[in-house]
Amino acid sequence: MKSCAALVAYALATLASATCPPRVQRAQNRTFSYGTLKAETLPKFLKDNPLPGGTPWGADIDPKTVNPRVPPNTGVTRNYDFTISRGALAPDGYYKKSGILINGQFPGPTIEANWGDMIEVRVTNNITSPDEGTALHWHGLFQNGTAWYDGVPSVSQCPIAPGASFTYKFQAGVFGSSWYHSHYSAQAAGGLFGPLIVYGPSHVEYDEDIGPVMLADWFHKDYFAIVKNVMSNNSSLWANPSDNTLINGRMPYNCSQVTDGTPCGDAPFAKFRFETGKTYKLRLINAGAAGMQYFSIDGQTLQIVANDLTDIQPYNTTIVTLGVGQRSDVLFTPKAINGTKSIWMRTLQSGKFCQRASNPAGRAVILLDGAPDDTIPKTVAYPAPVDDGTCKNDPLELSVPYYEESLPEPSTTFQITVNTIVNASGNQLYTMNGSPFMANYNNPLLGLAYQKNVSYPTQWNTYNFGSNSSVRIVIWNNSSGPHPMHIHGHDMYLLYDGTERWDGTTIVNPLNPVRRDTHNLRPKGWMVMQYNLDNPGVWPFHCHIAWHLSMGMYVNLMESPEKIDAAAIPEVLRETCDAWNEYSKSHVVEQIDSGV
Ligand code: C2O
Ligand code: CU
Repeated sequence: MKSCAALVAYALATLASATCPPRVQRAQNRTFSYGTLKAETLPKFLKDNPLPGGTPWGADIDPKTVNPRVPPNTGVTRNYDFTISRGALAPDGYYKKSGILINGQFPGPTIEANWGDMIEVRVTNNITSPDEGTALHWHGLFQNGTAWYDGVPSVSQCPIAPGASFTYKFQAGVFGSSWYHSHYSAQAAGGLFGPLIVYGPSHVEYDEDIGPVMLADWFHKDYFAIVKNVMSNNSSLWANPSDNTLINGRMPYNCSQVTDGTPCGDAPFAKFRFETGKTYKLRLINAGAAGMQYFSIDGQTLQIVANDLTDIQPYNTTIVTLGVGQRSDVLFTPKAINGTKSIWMRTLQSGKFCQRASNPAGRAVILLDGAPDDTIPKTVAYPAPVDDGTCKNDPLELSVPYYEESLPEPSTTFQITVNTIVNASGNQLYTMNGSPFMANYNNPLLGLAYQKNVSYPTQWNTYNFGSNSSVRIVIWNNSSGPHPMHIHGHDMYLLYDGTERWDGTTIVNPLNPVRRDTHNLRPKGWMVMQYNLDNPGVWPFHCHIAWHLSMGMYVNLMESPEKIDAAAIPEVLRETCDAWNEYSKSHVVEQIDSGV
């Protein structure tokens, strides 16, 4: 009989799947040291499960010819144990009474896996005073065949009730840089997020992987208070500017701005030490609630090599633009500027129409070679990007996926118009095709779809695309805000992005269009995307700005409901719904927003 490793190697060669008894391994919960001088660099892959060929994915493969969406089965499971609780937080020196932490940490622990591994995360909800439900979503992972672990309350599960636990089990079916976050109301804005890294074959050369560089706006008010305000009568869409801009959870606040006596003290900058002559990989992640980020390093050239979980033909830039939820892997070979060996890394929230930020300029310290630990840089920023009010991503033409895939013919085309309305109770809401989304926590859609019930209340915003092979969606943003649009369960091909109405035919790079999971829709702009229906389930498509999501800017894209027949569904749904139904019978669940 062949060994399991040999079977897997055979399966890799033939692209069949081998089933081995899972070799369960406990992954280390690294604490979040990224952005400190004691941070370790990341490995090229986790070395404890190499297959024949020396890498976890078999012989060294050429990413040009191997479909990154067809993972190997490594037979390895990475286990994580997360306990979520409230805790005081002062990442920028301003004392915030109530953040939401994972294992006492902010940002949350880094999840690491090799391409093809299984990831299991046991999540225990210890959120108290007041208590709240929760649910974690694994951004950018497709959940192929595991739609019930996608982490969206009211869609793929009931919220995890206070005091209860739930274990998510899914494959790291794609590779690159991503993150996870709460999908329950705007909890992510309270700190409930962390990086998720999947190691895979690399299409570029570099010396060191310095790991996640998380960029995030930061709000001193509790997220619940902000959501309440956002949802209230006549609240301006711009009423809640962020207070600070963090890099890897750090950026000293100017305490002289505190007027209400809240404790505020010194806080460190994030720091990175690099050697000139070496090439580094930085995994930029916009993990914020609302603010677009413009990332740069003074005087340096950055090379973008991946956008979201898609490797691209490298291109050079000085400023990397990231809407909320977007990621870019960049390579960087530091050079001293006029002999100075300490340089600012910056991330700027800017643009009249892109966001409101009281302190838009986040900074971190880069030390080159032997520059002393406490050096404060004096370098000068690149000019801020010209504010033309579009809040746009880089032109689609610039991003060319490394693994080529041409655009299939769509089997149907659908239009979605984004707008704002004031409802009967005077709340300002976002609509998609006239309807703001409202979740029903007690009745996950997936369970109803499993029971072949596919007609739902209007406010569930669910479109059933049935057995279509590929759906093209034309989106018209008739509102004055930008919207980083994110799809679950898929990548989208991006065909068009502009302020001119789409002419119905022009497609950027039809032979190999941009594929990614999040793209910024311009104010009063148009965006055309298309996705292939290869993953039966119910998949959210929404704006990733926490407040817009609260205001209902969310739809469900259903596909092949008749194929959602996994016998596991009723049982897995019971794991969260029994406890939640019990809890919601005896407690008032204060659902102040759309719920997601
Ligand atoms: Cu990053 Cu619906 O999520
Ligand atoms: Cu939005």
